[in-house]
Amino acid sequence: MKALILSGGHGTRLRPLTYSQQKQLIPVANKPVLFYAIEDVIEAGIHDIGIIVGPNAEQVKKTVLSRDWDARIEFIYQGEPKGLAHAILVARDYLGDDDFVMYLGDNILREGIVEHLEHFKEGNFDASILLCEVPNPRQFGVAEISEDGKTIRRLVEKPKVPPSNLALVGIYFFKPVIHEAVKNIRPSWRNELEITDAIQWLIDQGYRVGWTKVRNWWKDTGKPEDLLEANRLILDDIEADVRVQTSARIHGRVVIGEDSVIDEDTVIKGPVVIGKNVRIKNSYIGPYTSIGDNVVIENTEIEDSIVLEGSEIRNAGRIVESLIGRGVRIINSTSHPLGRKLVIGDNSRLIL
Ligand code: G1P
Repeated sequence: MKALILSGGHGTRLRPLTYSQQKQLIPVANKPVLFYAIEDVIEAGIHDIGIIVGPNAEQVKKTVLSRDWDARIEFIYQGEPKGLAHAILVARDYLGDDDFVMYLGDNILREGIVEHLEHFKEGNFDASILLCEVPNPRQFGVAEISEDGKTIRRLVEKPKVPPSNLALVGIYFFKPVIHEAVKNIRPSWRNELEITDAIQWLIDQGYRVGWTKVRNWWKDTGKPEDLLEANRLILDDIEADVRVQTSARIHGRVVIGEDSVIDEDTVIKGPVVIGKNVRIKNSYIGPYTSIGDNVVIENTEIEDSIVLEGSEIRNAGRIVESLIGRGVRIINSTSHPLGRKLVIGDNSRLIL
C-alpha cells in the first residue's frame, strides 16, 4: 500500500498568502497543514509516500524534509495542475500496481484514516470514499447513496442542486483499476480531470465502490475562514506545554515554545499556541490564536487568529478573526500625516 499526497495547485482562494507560499504549507496550530496528512498516513501503517508537487515544489520539499519521517518519501512533479485525476496519471509509474490512498494535502481529518482504511481492505472494494455531512454541499463533490445505505448511486462535482448533504472528503482509497478510470474520463466544465468523474466511471462499469462516514470533524482548508476554523478545532484538543519561565497571566491550555519572552503585563487565555523566540509585551492573546516563531507583539489584543512567523504587531488595537502572513508589520502611525498607511499585496482583505 502506498500513499499519494497532493501538495500542488495555485491556492487562488488563499491569496495573497499563496503568492509566496504553497497553500498546504500554511500552518494550523503552528504545524503545516500538509504534515497532518503525512502523520495520518504513517499512523495507518503506510510508509511509502509520493507527494505531488507543483508551483512551489522546492519549498514543499524543503519543508517536508526538515522533519524526520518514518517513511520513504518521493516527490512527483505535476507540471500544470489539471485536476485530481491528473495527479494520478502523473504518478502512474510511482504507484505501480499497488493499492493506494490519495490524500489531498489541504484536508485535515480529526480521526485519522486507520478505520477508513480497514473498511476498504475488509470490504475488498475497488475504491472507497469518505463522506461527511456539510451545510454547504455545493462547494464539494456530493454523493447520492441508495436507500439501504449500501451502495453509492451517483457522485457529482460541485452540483447546483445537491442530491444530499454528504460531501466527498479529499481522501480516497483505490485499487489499481483507478488507472483505467482516469484514462477514460474527459475534462469537466472547470477544465479539470475530476477524481469524482473517475470514481463515477468505476460505478458505471460495475466496480465496487465503498464508503464510510466521518465520525468526528473534517476540514478542507481552501479558504481563510476554513483555516481559522481548522485552527479552532485543532486548538480545542491541545495540551498545555509551557517551555519558558514567565510571569504573564496564563489561563487555560497554552503552549509556549523555547526562547519566547512574555512579560508580566500580558494575559493569555487558551487555547493558544505560541512558537519559539516570540516576544510579547503588554498584550492580550485570546482563545483560538496561533502565533508562529519569531513574532513580536506589543500593546495589542489579538484573539481567534493565526499569525505566521516573523511578523511584528505593535500598538495595533484589537485584532480578531485574522490571518496574518509571514513578515507582516502592523504598527500604529505616530508621524504626520496621521491616518492609515497601507502597503498591501494583491488580493488582500482588510476589514476596518
Ligand atoms: C476537491 C474535490 C471535491 C472534494 C474536495 C474535498 O475539490 O474535487 O470533490 O469534495 O476536494 O476537499 P476542490 O478542492 O478541487 O475544489
